[in-house]
Amino acid sequence: MYPDIIVQAIGALWLALPALVANPSAVIFGGGTPMDFGMHFRDGRRILGDGKTWRGLAGGGAAGAFIGVTQQIIAQSTGIPYFPEFSGDAVTAVMMVTILGYGALLGDSVGSFIKRRLGIGRGERAFLLDQLTFLIIALFLVFLAYPHFFFKYFWNIPAIITLFVLTPILHRIVNIIGYRMGKKDVPW
Ligand code: CTP
Ligand code: MG
Repeated sequence: MYPDIIVQAIGALWLALPALVANPSAVIFGGGTPMDFGMHFRDGRRILGDGKTWRGLAGGGAAGAFIGVTQQIIAQSTGIPYFPEFSGDAVTAVMMVTILGYGALLGDSVGSFIKRRLGIGRGERAFLLDQLTFLIIALFLVFLAYPHFFFKYFWNIPAIITLFVLTPILHRIVNIIGYRMGKKDVPW
């Protein structure tokens, strides 16, 4: 019905949604004990910094997974394709969205780890590292856990272009909204 390239582009965005939602959700749930427990790396700087908390990880990952399960239910009752080869396999479907949600926040922490090693402070801007590390790691974990799924939905040109162009734009828009709402100290 639609050209393949549109299906591939929109399909990838739809399927990556749990990862895209998880990251900003951490801002809402975050706070409390930092994931690195305040510890320092051998370079004398914080391992991750105060911007990465257990509550942000747990809450943000759960929010992503929750969105993913909701998508699955919507898709099944409306006929939108979603995990077609896993239909009837709820465990795999839940695993997939959990990997995307928590993978995004683990990836976000990897981004902070790299920033700290480069001497970039918590909350300071790091172009592309801030916007794309979480997506790359989330997709990489999908590749490790379900390579067949990764190659089918994420490893094609329209999917890669759509995700890598739209994610930084969405990231920026959401951060400006978070800043205006008083949830973030800086609009990036
Ligand atoms: N957050 C959190 N736990 C996480 C991720 C994010 O609590 N695992 C919250 C923190 O309050 C953080 C905010 O979400 O300040 C924004 O996230 P992000 O921009 O990723 O963190 P930064 O504060 O910019 O820190 P960094 O420089 O390490 O990215
Ligand atoms: Mg930041």
